[in-house]
Amino acid sequence: MSTPRYDPISRSLHWLTALAATAAFLLGPEGFGRLMHEGTDPATRWDIVWHESLGLLVLGLTLLRLLWVALRPGKPHFDMPLWMRLLSRAVHGLLWLLLLALPLTALLALGSEGHPLTLLGGVRLNQFPGIAGSALGELTDWGELHGSLGDALIALAGAHALAALYHHFGRRDGVLAAMLPWRLRR
Ligand code: HEM
Ligand code: HEM
Repeated sequence: MSTPRYDPISRSLHWLTALAATAAFLLGPEGFGRLMHEGTDPATRWDIVWHESLGLLVLGLTLLRLLWVALRPGKPHFDMPLWMRLLSRAVHGLLWLLLLALPLTALLALGSEGHPLTLLGGVRLNQFPGIAGSALGELTDWGELHGSLGDALIALAGAHALAALYHHFGRRDGVLAAMLPWRLRR
């Protein structure tokens, strides 16, 4: 018997987001402030250009996913204790929040520090009207907050992946199989 699965759009968007977010994390530009201080043009740094492009791809995929979550006919349901259902909802909610907060804090960091956004294909945005010198821009060190949220996303996604493996190998329910790109036989 095959298990109920998420629809192909939900599955594709989930795995594309997971890949893009992990790659963006691995390319997180360490020492960005120092490089900018030394006068390096971020467009000449492939890690920064890829990091920012992948990060914005995550934002685009997340907005599309949220739209699809609102429109999709439904998702598979599995029996589990109430505490587990509530915990999984809380973790998914936090993951959604972090996926949205990461690009927003990054744009606030660039805008408040006066650095350009530099993307693949030579796309460049030098100024972020309304952020530099604004109360919001001055509220905190957005770059530092952004880096900490990036670490939090990957830690939470790791715990989320371990939970998925526990569902599969410990509880032997169909939760992981429902999201895998390929079909598993039970
Ligand atoms: C899933 C999306 C993202 C993740 C997981 C992520 C993760 C990170 C991490 C972990 C760092 C700190 C790196 C270090 O200090 O070693 C960082 C820094 C940075 N990220 Fe992202 N990021 C994401 C999206 C973005 C986007 C969309 C942009 C640009 C629009 C961006 C621009 C930057 C910049 C400019 C820094 C340096 C900040 C500073 O030190 O002032 N990131 N990111
Ligand atoms: C950066 C990496 C990841 C992020 C940001 C992420 C995020 C999410 C989010 C927001 C959902 C809810 C999706 C929806 O309702 O359509 C979800 C579901 C799910 N994810 Fe991930 N995920 C990541 C990596 C992984 C990995 C590595 C695995 C497996 C090893 C995994 C397995 C699952 C499963 C099985 C579900 C369905 C859970 C359920 O129905 O209760 N995810 N993920």
